[in-house]
Amino acid sequence: MILDSTTITSKTGKEFRLVSIGPDNAGQFLDFMHQVSCDTHFMSRYGDEVKLDEAAIQAEKERQKTLQDSDIQGMFSIFDGNRIIGNIAVRQVCCHRKTAHRCSIGLGIRKEYHGLGLGSILMDYAINFAKEAGYKSMELGVLSDNIIAQGLYKKMGFTEWGRLPEAFILDDGTPIDEITMYRKL
Ligand SMILES: CC(C)(COP(=O)(O)OP(=O)(O)OC[C@H]1O[C@@H](n2cnc3c(N)ncnc32)[C@H](O)[C@@H]1OP(=O)(O)O)[C@@H](O)C(=O)NCCC(=O)NCCS
Repeated sequence: MILDSTTITSKTGKEFRLVSIGPDNAGQFLDFMHQVSCDTHFMSRYGDEVKLDEAAIQAEKERQKTLQDSDIQGMFSIFDGNRIIGNIAVRQVCCHRKTAHRCSIGLGIRKEYHGLGLGSILMDYAINFAKEAGYKSMELGVLSDNIIAQGLYKKMGFTEWGRLPEAFILDDGTPIDEITMYRKL
């Protein structure tokens, strides 16, 4: 889905562009994912698993094209200049009729931009997009030790509905549960 870009304002009054991204942004997106995944264990991959070579960029272009070509899915990024500093993805959980009403989201902000209200802005944007797209519910998974993200999701109206024990095991052997959250749209 391609939406018109819009200007947003952070808590400190700084303005940023919010843009729906596509294949042309594949390199910028991987650079963003690489940093966020290096800076925290809260993402699904380690930073060294987010490759930045030509093959990875090509694969990411194809993934972005699929999302861009869909009327009910999208990737929405906040740019500071030419750099993606935050992103939210809205995807359909499954296209079959019984589950077509469910979407899921994935969210991240580069750490130097945390606490500026950008995560909340992206969540609001994704919720509005999902409602317009006709979804009836939004779901997500969050690591049990990611207290800030859980606080943000609760603020946005999500409730916890499940917990998968030891869904993640860090390289040092630490097991972490995944909390699953849901919001009616
Ligand atoms: C989680 C994340 C997206 C939040 O982004 P952000 O731009 O810093 O978020 P905002 O500034 O909009 O909002 C922060 C909200 O978190 C919550 N929060 C902050 N500190 C908190 C704490 N100590 N305890 C509980 N909730 C807290 C509050 O709801 C707060 O909103 P408020 O300031 O209006 O009270 C960001 O920290 C991030 O990208 N982290 C690394 C990757 C990640 O964890 N992604 C989510 C994977 S599920």
